[in-house]
Amino acid sequence: MKNLHNALLLKQLYGLKQMGYLYTDLTLPSYRASDLQLPSTMDALIKQAIGCHLCELSKTRKKVVFGEGNPHAAIMFVGEGPGATEDDSGRPFVGRAGELLTNMIEKVLFIPRSEVYITNIVKCRPPNNRPPSPTEAHTCLPYLQKQIETIQPRIIVALGATAYHYLTGDESKITQIRGSVLEQSGYKLIATYHPSYLLRNPSAKKEAFEDMKLVKSMMR
Ligand code: URA
Repeated sequence: MKNLHNALLLKQLYGLKQMGYLYTDLTLPSYRASDLQLPSTMDALIKQAIGCHLCELSKTRKKVVFGEGNPHAAIMFVGEGPGATEDDSGRPFVGRAGELLTNMIEKVLFIPRSEVYITNIVKCRPPNNRPPSPTEAHTCLPYLQKQIETIQPRIIVALGATAYHYLTGDESKITQIRGSVLEQSGYKLIATYHPSYLLRNPSAKKEAFEDMKLVKSMMR
């Protein structure tokens, strides 16, 4: 819960900055453990995320894109962060990249999209589709950790380097680690290319197809 503690302190500092403070020697509150706990049910967690103002992204988002799918899914897909279409609709992966992801799920894994759970590292759109900053990602991670704890998937597919990096702490290039299976506590993690990358680089679809076939074999 160190992330959340830091996030609450950051929020306090942003508040002071907005009030015109350039520096502070104020003693900031030390939060009680109960203040730092995120709720354990999905409904309560969604409610908390919808009202979240812990980072800068909350100022420019239209909708919080929490995630969607089967709350007991065996497979979870984690992307980077919502784009414009997702920000408008409040749903993850519904633009062109989402169409490709849906095809990967339904035409390679042969399961309906509604059977898996899909979410992102950050739940609010980074302006101009830039990658989330480390502060934004770390501030948002407790929501993802709670989603994983609640859903308990057997397999998590990290879509792209950003998702892989924040799920593991490893900064390896996606080209080096895609297609390998990592044993995490409670689930297996496999990274593949982000669907947006595949739209820009269709020749990489072959490798992504191999990765999804590996996921399919791990489902048995
Ligand atoms: N890209 C992402 O990483 N996530 C989305 O939800 C949409 C596009």
